Amino acid sequence: MNFTNKTIWVTGATSGIGRAVAIEISAKNVNLILSGRNEQALGETASVCEKKGSTTLIVPFDLGDEKSVNAAAKTVLDKGVRVDALYQFGGISQRSFVSETPVSVDRKIFEINYFGTIALTKLVLPEMIKNGGGQIAVTSSIVGKFGFPYRSSYSASKQALHGFFESLRAENVPNNIAVSVIIPGRIKTNISVNAVNKDGKTHAKMDVGQDTGMSAEKCAKIICKKLKKEKKEILVGGKELIMVHIRRFLPRLYYYMASRVKPL
Ligand SMILES: NC(=O)c1ccc[n+]([C@@H]2O[C@H](COP(=O)([O-])OP(=O)(O)OC[C@H]3O[C@@H](n4cnc5c(N)ncnc54)[C@H](OP(=O)(O)O)[C@@H]3O)[C@@H](O)[C@H]2O)c1
Repeated sequence: MNFTNKTIWVTGATSGIGRAVAIEISAKNVNLILSGRNEQALGETASVCEKKGSTTLIVPFDLGDEKSVNAAAKTVLDKGVRVDALYQFGGISQRSFVSETPVSVDRKIFEINYFGTIALTKLVLPEMIKNGGGQIAVTSSIVGKFGFPYRSSYSASKQALHGFFESLRAENVPNNIAVSVIIPGRIKTNISVNAVNKDGKTHAKMDVGQDTGMSAEKCAKIICKKLKKEKKEILVGGKELIMVHIRRFLPRLYYYMASRVKPL
């Protein structure tokens, strides 16, 4: 995947990793569609991208509202825009124990992280197939590879994305659709600040894990390099990534470690 002369739709472009990726891929002859809820922040991302030479189209939507996702896709597709790549970073995290979290909060997390994401994918995919192919990326998490205290439905929603996007990849090899699942560890963004708590309100704290994580800019550089190579899984982060390998090869050690993790 060469970004030049391509139209790339980036969700979660208002902040953090999505914003950094949009800026990282910005250059002359790269057309960007930028999405998220916060229109003002999208405008700020767009102006940085335009300074680097990209054209931008701002398409705000709420991943938690299917009608809003449908309307966004209609806006883009009705303009006759050919989407070459869809890079999806939009999502929210969680900070609450299973025992205290109402199902309404679990559903909210799934609506945004899973259903909103697959809805957009399903709207863009047929056009990509008609156009002869394209690239679709989705952002999971290391806790998309294992369970983790205080993240039950966040982890579950990310694990669901693996099942969906692996199936999508397998079905669409003949259609020339490349699928990448991005798996960040701890990246210094506002993900913990914006995470939902047991009341469905924002956690509103920068957790130590995030604060000491890799910068969004460095993360974006690594992601873009691997997206160019159409890697199927893109692990990005620091020493915390070892947990993915411990879960796989030393499951008993993982069970022990996970049970001793302090929630924050
Ligand atoms: N940072 C980490 O350590 C880490 C680790 C693993 C995985 N991830 C994943 O990486 C992705 C990006 O997160 P980040 O770290 O960059 O956090 P972030 O700074 O909080 O960014 C989250 C992005 O998602 C968008 N978003 C949230 N809710 C939305 C909704 N209902 N509708 C549309 N867009 C929505 C936000 O835009 P608006 O608020 O404007 O809507 C924002 O652009 C997420 O999928 C996250 O789960 C992050």
